[in-house]
Amino acid sequence: MTEVRTKITLPYLFDKVAKRERRPCLTCYDYPSADFQEQAGIEMILVGDSLGMTMLGYDSTLPVKMEDMIRHASAVRRGAPNVFLVGDMPYMSYQASNELAVLNAGRFMAEAGCDAIKLEGGAAMAPRIRAISDAGIPAIGHLGLTPQSVASLGGFRLQGKSAALAKTIVDDAKALEMAGAVGVLLELVPDRLCKVVKERAENCFIMGLGSGPHAHGQLLIYHDMFGLYPKFKPKMAKVFGNAGEVILNGLKTYQDEVKAGKFPARENWFAMQDEEFDGLMKLLG
Ligand code: KIV
Repeated sequence: MTEVRTKITLPYLFDKVAKRERRPCLTCYDYPSADFQEQAGIEMILVGDSLGMTMLGYDSTLPVKMEDMIRHASAVRRGAPNVFLVGDMPYMSYQASNELAVLNAGRFMAEAGCDAIKLEGGAAMAPRIRAISDAGIPAIGHLGLTPQSVASLGGFRLQGKSAALAKTIVDDAKALEMAGAVGVLLELVPDRLCKVVKERAENCFIMGLGSGPHAHGQLLIYHDMFGLYPKFKPKMAKVFGNAGEVILNGLKTYQDEVKAGKFPARENWFAMQDEEFDGLMKLLG
């Protein structure tokens, strides 16, 4: 019998953090994967703008539009009605002004049924976090490797390696928390930096991606987890099952079977009754 799940809420997540229970979180971009994640009991999903690379084939996240995000986030919500759903604000959907940020954050809530939004950036983005929170929308910050700023960061590489840069990340996390962020995601920073940020967090949870074991929760990119992004496998990811290989083998077998006349087999089609077929032939003269 399918287990009946109740809706995962922010107070529920904070309760788990208070009890020091680590929370797993995954990215997701489509209905069938969301249905699997709901069935598996995943509690928190990020519809990341990484969908620009994993689903749409761009080389970066920069070309992703609000329309892309809303379409994919809505599909995920239909597949996973009970998860805590976070919509990732795409490039230039919030940077220019507080007003723009609030309007686009509101679209995630109203049009896609999200429970929170995430945006990239440190203290400079604290006013956006404040404005979105004041509008009643839970906001999550994102520090460390922030892919929308990949040009200024000099590539997809470890952030906060030096004491001085690590201090900036600690200060940025506190600035986001003070502005009302309910959570902060730390991507690709050293493990002990993540631990320091977590220990200093008072009213927000810390999620880690490639940042060691100390965060309140872990995030992983679904496509990395199942070998579904053939271009690249980052060190921070672990392949938990090679669905990519299963799919590739299935595609080759399909081609072989069609060419050999083995597919479709008798159980894959519908026959017409003899009298109906005879009638058809008569009608056709
Ligand atoms: O877009 C995304 O999936 C993200 C994660 C890399 C954190 O922002």
